[in-house]
Amino acid sequence: MFPSSPPEPTASAHNAPLRDVWYLAAGSEAVTPGRVVAKTMLGEPILLGRDKEGRAFALRDICPHRGYPLSTGPFDGREVTCPYHGWRFDTAGLCTAIPAVVEEQQPGPGKIKVRSYPVREQQGNIWVFFGEDETLAPAIPVIAGLPDDARPKLREVVILEGGIDDAVVGLMDPAHGPYIHRSWFWRTGRATRVKEKQFEPSPWGFTMTRHKPSQSRAYLVLGGSPTTEITFRLPCIRWEHIMAGDHVMCHFTTLTPISGNRTEITHSIYWTQPWLTPLTPLLRPFVKTFLKQDCDAMTTQQIGLAHAPPLLLLGDPDAQARWYHRLKLEFERAKAEGRPFANPVKPRVLKWRT
Ligand code: FES
Ligand SMILES: [Fe+2]
Repeated sequence: MFPSSPPEPTASAHNAPLRDVWYLAAGSEAVTPGRVVAKTMLGEPILLGRDKEGRAFALRDICPHRGYPLSTGPFDGREVTCPYHGWRFDTAGLCTAIPAVVEEQQPGPGKIKVRSYPVREQQGNIWVFFGEDETLAPAIPVIAGLPDDARPKLREVVILEGGIDDAVVGLMDPAHGPYIHRSWFWRTGRATRVKEKQFEPSPWGFTMTRHKPSQSRAYLVLGGSPTTEITFRLPCIRWEHIMAGDHVMCHFTTLTPISGNRTEITHSIYWTQPWLTPLTPLLRPFVKTFLKQDCDAMTTQQIGLAHAPPLLLLGDPDAQARWYHRLKLEFERAKAEGRPFANPVKPRVLKWRT
């Protein structure tokens, strides 16, 4: 429970992204050795790169000299050269050369630096840390049953015109299925029925405990008797972990705040069933359709949200959305009070009609 008179949270304003957390920057495959890519995250210009040895790195994409975007310059696998006056920076952001300045006027090694961001790479994803204190950050989830160098077999990235909170709530909302995802491959036309699911708190989030999935034809292709578990973790990661026989499939969905009203959704699917891999080109259109349905709904929603109406989070179908807001608020409060994060979610059965 929250203390009776909590201090005002500092940054839980609607759609303000959490800081002191890791965000997915890109799939590992998007940044090849010796290359850099430019990306905006949390409104900040980021240069994402990978050195010759294969280590990923992230720098602020602004030359400290006169503001030129460093990502537009050449990268030799060790140093980025600013195209404007040729200043060079290593992958830690240290300025290593200022060609126009004569010897006696050189500022000296290590004096000039462009901001570098902590980077981690795990199971085919590159994560960038935004904030000051990495020890506060929710752990990057490790997908059980897959090695550290696992790569998703299928990945789709879409940009949503909406803020991070609206996107998270849209992502975890169990009630829009029959309205938004009307597809032959996912739902039949049958009437809705009551679903009852057990939820438990889990690190920095909550988990719909392992159960037999009932409603969907999409699980049938896996064979065996699949069971599934769905977890949400701050700042904005949701993954469905399916076990079928000896095999694992995981739908790993992450949201990355691009700017105040743009959010990137990355849907990555991992599986260990070898026979599923040749079907990837067939699966992709279904994943695209499914994501587009979510994306279109949330984009249309923005027409109403532009008027900043008060919103209702009603009953069990919206309980996960309420938990998200509580988790986010608790993360901010724990930080402000200098105490450990205390998960506000309690074990509960949620019921809804879908
Ligand atoms: S702006 Fe980058 S070197 Fe001058
Ligand atoms: Fe959806």
